Parts: sequence; C-alpha cells; structure tokens
Amino acid sequence: MAADAKTALETLAQEHRTFAPPKAFAARANAGDPGIYDRAAKDLEGFWAEQAGSLAWRKPFSKVLEWEAPYARWFVGGELNISENCLDRHVKAGRGARVAYHWEGEPGDTRTLTYQDLLDETQRCANALRSLGVRKGDRVAIYLPMIPELPVAMLACARIGAPFTVVFGGFSAEALSGRINDSEAKVLVTADGGYRKGGVVPLKKNADDALAQTRTVEKVLVVRRTKQEVPWTDGRDVWWDQLVGAQKADCPPEPLDSEHMLYLLYTSGTTAKPKGIVHTTAGYLAGVAATHRMIFDIKDDDVYWCAADIGWVTGHSYIVFGPLANGTTGVIYEGTPDFPDRDRWWSIVEKYRVSVLYCAPTAIRTFMKWGPEYPRKHDMRSLRLLGSVGEPINPEAWLWYHEVIGGGRCPIVDTWWMTETGMILITPLPGITTTKPGSATFPFPGVAADVVDEEGKSVALGGAGYLVITRPWPAMMRGIYKDDARYRDTYWSRFPGRFFAGDGARRDADGYFWLMGRVDDVMKISGHRISTTEVESALVSHSAVAEAAVIGREDPVTGQAIFAFVTLRGGKDGGEPLSRELREHVVRTIGSIARPKTIMFTPELPKTRSGKIMRRLLRDIANGQPLGDTTTLADTTVVESIRGASASGRDD
Ligand code: WTA
Repeated sequence: MAADAKTALETLAQEHRTFAPPKAFAARANAGDPGIYDRAAKDLEGFWAEQAGSLAWRKPFSKVLEWEAPYARWFVGGELNISENCLDRHVKAGRGARVAYHWEGEPGDTRTLTYQDLLDETQRCANALRSLGVRKGDRVAIYLPMIPELPVAMLACARIGAPFTVVFGGFSAEALSGRINDSEAKVLVTADGGYRKGGVVPLKKNADDALAQTRTVEKVLVVRRTKQEVPWTDGRDVWWDQLVGAQKADCPPEPLDSEHMLYLLYTSGTTAKPKGIVHTTAGYLAGVAATHRMIFDIKDDDVYWCAADIGWVTGHSYIVFGPLANGTTGVIYEGTPDFPDRDRWWSIVEKYRVSVLYCAPTAIRTFMKWGPEYPRKHDMRSLRLLGSVGEPINPEAWLWYHEVIGGGRCPIVDTWWMTETGMILITPLPGITTTKPGSATFPFPGVAADVVDEEGKSVALGGAGYLVITRPWPAMMRGIYKDDARYRDTYWSRFPGRFFAGDGARRDADGYFWLMGRVDDVMKISGHRISTTEVESALVSHSAVAEAAVIGREDPVTGQAIFAFVTLRGGKDGGEPLSRELREHVVRTIGSIARPKTIMFTPELPKTRSGKIMRRLLRDIANGQPLGDTTTLADTTVVESIRGASASGRDD
C-alpha cells in the first residue's frame, strides 16, 4: 500500500471523503448523462420500455405495466425466450466465438465456453430434460457446484419454459428436500460431488438423502465432476455425459409469455420455513440486463467476474442472466479464495485480465485480515471497476478495496438489493455518481425509494428509519410460491402500497442512502441470509434442547455471527461435547453456512410476562452492550444467571 493510502485509512474515522468518477471513466461510461434520473422518474414506463426494446421479442408487448398493488405485470402480452436472448441472439449476430465464460475449477482445471459452445450445450441439455419428461411449467431442482453445467441447466430450463429452483451446494439434504417438496420438482440435476477447500463435497449422497424424503422427483440427472463413487438408483439416475452428450444441439427456444415463471429461489424470512420467491420472464430480464450494463459499465473488451455463488440471487442475476443478455465475457471460479493459497482470487484476476470484479464485503474483510501481500503478488492493473453486495460495507473495507485491490483508480459500486427485488435497486452509476465509502448512494434510475418512520411518514434528510420502495420495478418478485397471504403480509402490509424491504436505512444531508442492516429476524452471516428462527427450530429439534434463542452478533469479518442461547432439558450446561454436537446438528439440518459460532448454555431465557423471548436483551448480552430497559422482564434474575453463564460461552 502506498504511504499516502495508509494515511488515508488511518484518518478515515474522522474523515468523510467523497470520490467523484474519474474523468476518463466518466467520458466513456455506458451511463454518463445525469439527466437519466429525471427522465426515468418522469416517464417510468417509457424508460423501461426503452430498456426492454433492446431484447429480442417473439411477440411485442401491448402494455408496459399493469400495477395493482401488490401485483405487477410487466410488458403485458409480450413473448420472448430468455435463453434465446442470452445465447442465440449473440450467435446470430456473428458473436458465437466470443467467450461467454472462462471457467476455473478449484483443482486448477479450466474450460473455456464460447457463446456457441454454451448454446450447443444448452440445447443438448434442454433436449435431455425433455427426454426425462420435463414439459413447459414443470419444475426442475438444480443442486450443483459452480461448474459450467449449472448455468447450462438454468438456460436449458428457461429454453423449454420449465421453472427451475437452484439450491446452493452448501445446503444440507434436509434443506434440499424442503425446497424440492415445496416446488414439487419433477427432475433433480446434481453432480457426484464438488471441490471445496481441497476436499470433496458429497452432493449425490446428499441428494439421495434428500430424495428419501420427497415424492415428486422422477429422474435425477448427474454430472460427473469429481469421479468419486456414488450411490445409484437404476431407472431413476442418469449420467449427464451419457444422456446430454447423446442429444442433438438443436432445440428451438419456446416463446414464453412475459409473465411466465422463470425461477423460484428460496430465501430465509422471519419464520423457520424458507419462502419460494417467484421471478418471471421479461421484466426480470430487462431489469437485470439494464442494471448490469449501466452499473458495471460493461463493454465488449471487459472481463467481468462476479465471485458470488450461482446458488444465490446475485449469481442468478449477475453471473448468468444479466451478463449473458449483454453478451459479456465472464469468469466463473468453483472453489474457495484460499485454495491452494490466499492469493487464488488475485491469480485469477491476473490470469484472465479481469476488469470488473463484484464480490461481498465479507470477502473483502477476509482479504484485509490476510494482508495486502497476497494481492500485491499479482499484476491487477486490468481492474477498472469494483462492486460490493450482500451486506453493508464498512468504510474501512471500502477504502481498503479501493486502494489495495483497485489501486486507487477504480470506482466502487456498492449495490443494495435482495432476492425479492431481482435486480440492483440502490447503487452508484460509476460514470455519474460521486461516492461516499459505506453508502450505496442513490436509487437506480426509475427506482423510487424512501426512508419512513413507524407510521410510514417520510423521514427528513439526516434521519433514519425503514427502507421502502414506492414504485414498481420490472424485476420485482411476483409473489411467494403457493403463499399469497405471506407475500402480502411480509412485504406490503406494514406500509400499504409500498414494498417493505426489512432493512433499516438512513439518509444523510445530501440524500445519500446508508443501509444499516436488517430490522427483522433475518441475519446476514458472511452475506448469507439466514433466519434466527430457522436456526432455533434446528436446535430445538435436538432431543437435549428445551429452548433456544438465536441472534446475530456483530462480527468484524463475517458482519454477523450466529450466537445461540440454549436451555437444555434439565437446565444444565452441556459442556463442549454437546456444544459441538449441536453445531453439527444445525449443519445437518440447514447446512454449514448456518453453523453457530457460539453456543451459550443458560438455565433460562429472558421472557416478557406474556412469555415472549426478549431478543433485544439477548442481543445486548451477546454484543457485550449495556442492557436497555428490562422492566418488561418477568423474572429479572434471569439476566444475572445468563451473565454468569457467559463464561461458558464457547467460540470456535
Ligand atoms: C442486505 C442479496 C447493505 C440487506 C443481493 C438485504 C445489503 C439483504 C446490500 C438481501 C448492500 C444486500 N448494503 N446491505 N449493498 N446488499 N444487503 O436476499 O440487508 O441474500 O435486505 O440478496 O442483504 O439479501 P439477499
């Protein structure tokens, strides 16, 4: 780090620096005219119709938007196919030889897929799915590592109109079965295994365990990735290389209604049951393509790397659909950042000459902890733009990213959005917006956001409150699968007519938005979204546990860390062996991302007189903060007993 950069970091606490777009960057930016905000605000429908106009339509839409809160229909009456827009359109334009993905496996093996390759494999996969009985409207579950077959399977489903649900490879068998059962998937696409930190993840075994608890899956298509031995069910299981490999690379894309369901993605809410977020076709594609092009300033000579996992919404929108719709050359990396060493990411940046990098604050803070010597080993002058997503980025991490990774020359786009929003909603435009480290800045053109108080009144600049979105946007969720009541209740009942995000936010005197984290029972652990109730119900399902309360404790690297207060049957302290067993029990129930960092055995949990667990109090205890008002507590001695128990809290 340059000496002056170091000084900058040290003085950060006192300083509120701003970063104007570099002139040369602004001069050739895809979005360079600040008038775009006004134009979009004045003519929302015109703005989005123009964005949708660059897509290939099979049948033009007759109406841009039908909005009857909380139900939106975008590009009404139109028909298109997403895989055609992502693949055929570019090949037909003579760009088939362009690289769609540089793929790198964790062990170091590589594959290069051009748009022509991706189109061929997608058509073969689509034919294979059809041969397994998948028809338009049937659901397909996808449980794969970060290998090219993952986007191929998604595109193949989109080609034939089969809504898919991708389940992150780190989820357990039980989590997978819950998602299969809710979506009633007919086919499961999985792999023998995947590589992670030098080890092998037993995906097929997990899949089989999941299928033991499901009834809808008829066929399992299995990619051979690790070549390990796997359990096999004849008649149900089929190898990808045998079936897909035998198909013709010819499967005409099915024209689909604008509102045809594209995918379901399960995400955590405030109850133990994940919600199936529904996304549809044309509005989603228009939204992710336009945001991707403008926010990441994508040009033909860019090499774009979004380092998220495709199992999360970031990967759906900004590894697969947005980038491919824009004909982008992207990078996909299968493994962890520290395999074989802590400079793996930077070796990838150097090797593929990555110019745009998009990742999560947790990753940045981890790299900060590892030290600047790892990025310094590599030539990273190809980078020109950096992005952040998934959780608030603290100014220290922002500045480190800017200086050490971006060499002080790359604008940073801190992008706020959610699984439910489908596309980025609050973000800088890198050629226009002057950024402030830690602020996601302003709503994207056409997006209307507000910060309101308990009564739903707009909070004056300088104040804090709840973030709401006040006008519809094309990639917005269309509902919760099979649970309309929950859709209305979760997002639209608190402030009728406005979308309640569940985030706290503040606007400064200049109108910049500062996201302040969740205001509900959702935690953000390393950017992964996990509900406190989900972990609690996993803990309580263990026979030794009487009661559990889970909170997200502030953590310098992972943002939040899972802290569980556990009361055992019989009220005793379970000691280290039980603590370890409970952690593993949660991993088995949900997946390794939900492993509690700390388990504290307490004889009782603090409750109100009506029997509600006082989470706020537990949060204060876990964060070592002075306790607020305890007058509603039924039994004040409980707090003392928990404080006494804190000595036996165990960290990994
Ligand atoms: C949080 C991830 C601050 C937020 C795309 C939101 C952020 C939740 C940011 C959604 C950001 C996402 N700054 N917080 N730039 N981006 N969040 O569904 O709390 O996994 O509600 O989608 O992540 O998480 P999800």
